[in-house]
Amino acid sequence: MKVLSGIQPTGRFHWGNYFGAIQQYIAMQGSEQSYYFIADLHALTTVREPDVLRQNIQDSALDLLALGLDPARATLFRQSDVPEVTELTWLLMTITQMHLLEKCHAFKDKKAKGIAADAGLFTYPVLMAADILMYDSDVVPVGQDQVQHIEVTRDLAQRFNSLYDECLVLPNAHVLDSSAKVVGTDGEKMSKSYGNTIPLFDTPKRLKKQINQIKTDSKTVEDVKDPEQCAVFTLYKLFSTDEQQAELASRYRAGGMGYGEAKNALYEATMAKFGAAFERRTDLEGRTDDVEDILQAGAKTARTKAREVIERVRSACGLKQKPAAI
Ligand code: ADP
Ligand code: TRP
Repeated sequence: MKVLSGIQPTGRFHWGNYFGAIQQYIAMQGSEQSYYFIADLHALTTVREPDVLRQNIQDSALDLLALGLDPARATLFRQSDVPEVTELTWLLMTITQMHLLEKCHAFKDKKAKGIAADAGLFTYPVLMAADILMYDSDVVPVGQDQVQHIEVTRDLAQRFNSLYDECLVLPNAHVLDSSAKVVGTDGEKMSKSYGNTIPLFDTPKRLKKQINQIKTDSKTVEDVKDPEQCAVFTLYKLFSTDEQQAELASRYRAGGMGYGEAKNALYEATMAKFGAAFERRTDLEGRTDDVEDILQAGAKTARTKAREVIERVRSACGLKQKPAAI
């Protein structure tokens, strides 16, 4: 299995990113080929401050490594460190029909809101297709929101293969567990765009503050409460065993427990889950040269594969001599 996925460095990773994506990437590392990259070229479609982008890239690498991405079992690299990917993007673009991109949701949504889209956003799915096809990836773990892009990737690979020689591998989406849809502090889907996120790594004091900001109803301490209607409990479920959940749920239903106590239980559970990762991250912050070495080594591995594929593609479409028949 050749697994690949990318994540955009558009801000600090939050619980939604962890449970919805990162945790599942990490579970898949160690496959025959597991490539994970920081999609910095994609992030350029939204992050326009160079220092912010640089910081986001660094934070993304630190977060991923602290959370358990293991460079001995997976290749971690920056998308832009493999320039072959932008060449493949162009080659794919020459066979991409406009209607395929016009129906992609990121572009369609922006257009529907009357916001001017640039060519970067419009062709975003082609760069994503190049990311995937560049390494002969066959399994791409992604959230439901990205499935459409995998379909586009398959379409483009099929079209390229039928116009030229069969040289691109058709990937399959591995849709990440959607039951892991994490709610934010307002009870809606946690997302940077809604300003309701709880970052994965923050000081204990700030974490406590964020947890205290989770919206609850106005029931008093004595009131009987419904755990299933409460964002604090919904989040607690992500961090606890069935028994722990059953215990907290029965305290909700019995009355006599305020939301403050439930928030404390959530705080304790998050510290138990991420405490070790937090320490690893603090350690990595003091070893940024080692982190850079990991990214460079990852880029070297990825480029070796990318060069092999781009040679195949260049000769298939007539840019290079065909390799001699064996
Ligand atoms: P954001 O919505 O904060 O900008 P991204 O779109 O960058 O987050 O998320 C990257 C990936 O993280 C998504 O493809 C999805 O798989 C996962 N993800 C993000 N938010 C959530 C969430 N609230 N619940 C589950 N998964 C999420
Ligand atoms: N578009 C993806 C997202 O926003 C990130 C991404 C870029 C990606 N290239 C990819 C994911 C290739 C999987 C494969 O989440």
